[in-house]
Amino acid sequence: MEAPAYAPSLRLLHWLIALLVLSVWPLGFMIKFVRDEVKLDFYMLHESLGFIVLWLMLVRIGARLSKGAPQGLTTGIEHYVATAVHVLLYLFLIVMPVTGFLATNAHGFPLQWFGLFRVWSPIDKAPEIAPVFSMIHEWSSWILLALFALHIAGVIFHHVIRRDGTLYRIL
Ligand code: HEM
Ligand code: HEM
Repeated sequence: MEAPAYAPSLRLLHWLIALLVLSVWPLGFMIKFVRDEVKLDFYMLHESLGFIVLWLMLVRIGARLSKGAPQGLTTGIEHYVATAVHVLLYLFLIVMPVTGFLATNAHGFPLQWFGLFRVWSPIDKAPEIAPVFSMIHEWSSWILLALFALHIAGVIFHHVIRRDGTLYRIL
């Protein structure tokens, strides 16, 4: 079935951010398991790529507000569930990089973006609040994973059971 699609900019941003998040998440998870010699590399890669997510998400929110979404294919409860998952994904894609960034600065390790330059931070080393940012970052990462699982369940439901072309809206 033909379905109206998202604006090209929103499709591009969806896949760029999906690619980044699907790399940044496992990189973050692996940090505490890797050998000490490569730990700092994992931190730098995780943080530098994760930081890009923040800026792309700000552009994406602007694009989403100005371009809108194509007419929904579902109504009622399904529509509300899909919208809730999308809004929460947007929210946690902002919460993740912001808390990670504040955590590393509060722990006293300001972000050196790919080793190129130091990113300005509104906070300096603050050992008393650093664990709070770390905790929010870690918990949020599991919430994000759960939302992603729901998202993929929705995609499969539409593609395999409903066969309504939802997938083509974002391709
Ligand atoms: C989309 C963006 C991001 C995602 C999905 C993400 C995800 C994760 C995950 C899954 C972990 C492992 C948590 C654990 O089990 O301990 C982690 C740890 C960590 N992340 Fe991120 N992260 C993101 C962005 C960032 C950014 C931008 C920074 C810093 C500039 C950062 C700094 C850290 C740090 C320092 C840790 C180690 C644990 C801690 O002290 O909080 N993250 N991240
Ligand atoms: C990897 C496989 C993925 C597939 C097949 C996929 C598929 C889709 C589809 C079909 C839509 C359109 C839904 C609709 O029209 O109602 C969509 C929207 C969306 N996806 Fe994904 N997605 C994937 C990964 C991700 C990831 C990793 C994230 C973020 C963590 C994400 C976040 C979103 C968000 C926030 C929307 C809503 C867009 C909006 O309304 O502006 N997706 N995705």
